[in-house]
This record gives sequence, C-alpha cells and structure tokens, in this order.
Amino acid sequence: MKLFIDTADLTQIKELASWGILDGVTTNPTLLARSGRSLQEVIDEIFHLVNGPISLEVVSEKAEEMITEAKGIVAKIPQKYRENATIKIPMTAEGLKAVKALSQQGIKTNVTLVFSANQALLAAKAGATFVSPFIGRLDDNGQEGMQIVEEIMEIFCNYDIKTEVIVASIRHPIHVIQAARLGADIATIPPEVIRKMVKHPLTDAGITSFLKDWEKVKK
Ligand code: G3P
Repeated sequence: MKLFIDTADLTQIKELASWGILDGVTTNPTLLARSGRSLQEVIDEIFHLVNGPISLEVVSEKAEEMITEAKGIVAKIPQKYRENATIKIPMTAEGLKAVKALSQQGIKTNVTLVFSANQALLAAKAGATFVSPFIGRLDDNGQEGMQIVEEIMEIFCNYDIKTEVIVASIRHPIHVIQAARLGADIATIPPEVIRKMVKHPLTDAGITSFLKDWEKVKK
C-alpha cells in the first residue's frame, strides 16, 4: 500500500518524508490556503521533497477551462518532475470531460470529491489515473464511508480496472488500517494522523524500561 501525505505544509512534508514512508502528496485549495503559500511557492519546493505523484487541484468548473488550467499548472512544474504531476479534477460531468481529454494527452488525473462507487466507476471510465473517495466526510454525514471503498475495490477488481484508489479525507489511524485491509492502493493521510500511527504507549514504556535496565548493566 502506498502512503501519501495530505497537506501543502512544506515543513510537515519535509519532516515526514525524512521518515522514508511517503510515496506521494495530495493537496487541495483549502490545504494550500492553510499553508499560507502560493501555488507557485508550493510547486517550487514540493517536487524536491517527495518523489511520487503530487496532486494539485484545478478550481475551474467548465471542462475547457479545467484543461487550460491543468496545462498551466503542469507548465509551472520543472520538466524533470513533470511525470509526478497529477491534476485533481472534481467529480462532475464537466470534470469527466476534462479527465478524458487530459488522459489522452498523457496528463495524470486524480478525480476528487468522490462519494459513491458509481462516481468512481465513471471517473475510471473517463481515464482517471486515481480516484479519491472522501471517507471522513461521509462518516461526518452519518454514512459509513469505508463502505464505498469496499464497493469500489470490488468493482475495480471485477473488471481489472487500472485506476488506483486513494482513500482520502482520513480522520484517524483506524481509517488507514481499514483502507489497507480492503486492499486500497493508497491512503492519503494528514500529517497529524501519520504522527499518531507511529506512536504506541507500550513502545514508549518498553524503551523507558530498557534504558533503565541498561543503566544497571553498564556499571
Ligand atoms: O484529500 C482530501 C482531503 O484533503 C479532504 O479531507 O479532512 O477536508 O475532509 P477533509
């Protein structure tokens, strides 16, 4: 399973990339705004930090405008990193048209704001490289979010669909375990959840007790 980090915070990306566990990055306009950096500033650094797909989102609503915006984003990325460029496109009919055109032009796409297996199927049919079901927002809305991941994985497996499933809108470490058990290709995880994944109180207690005992031995 690949692990992406879901943030545009370059300090967090740098630190967590140094753990050797990151396979990619996802951002969105909200995360970009939270980082306090411009798109160009983030682009200038993010591709050096992680060697894997980096998702950057368009904000246009019409297919033609999305395509132009997507190409403009790719053009801002240094040539040597462009194979990692992934354009996030919202799950709408216009978005599907844009995905089709971009996939035909060899530009990777990540269809975002997916809330049903049917939406994921349509995105895959249009040629999406990735689909991003938003689990936490479904949970927040009183629906079992992971249920749609199960459905998407079953459907993609039935038809050997190559589009990769990114479990997104992850809220806590249990979401990551559930996504992995369902065979999702990728989980994109906020930095604070990755930091929770590394910790266990018994690990900390074990280290404390080993160090204490070592003090007795080394005398
Ligand atoms: O990758 C999608 C993610 O950024 C959305 O997460 O927490 O805003 O629902 P959230």
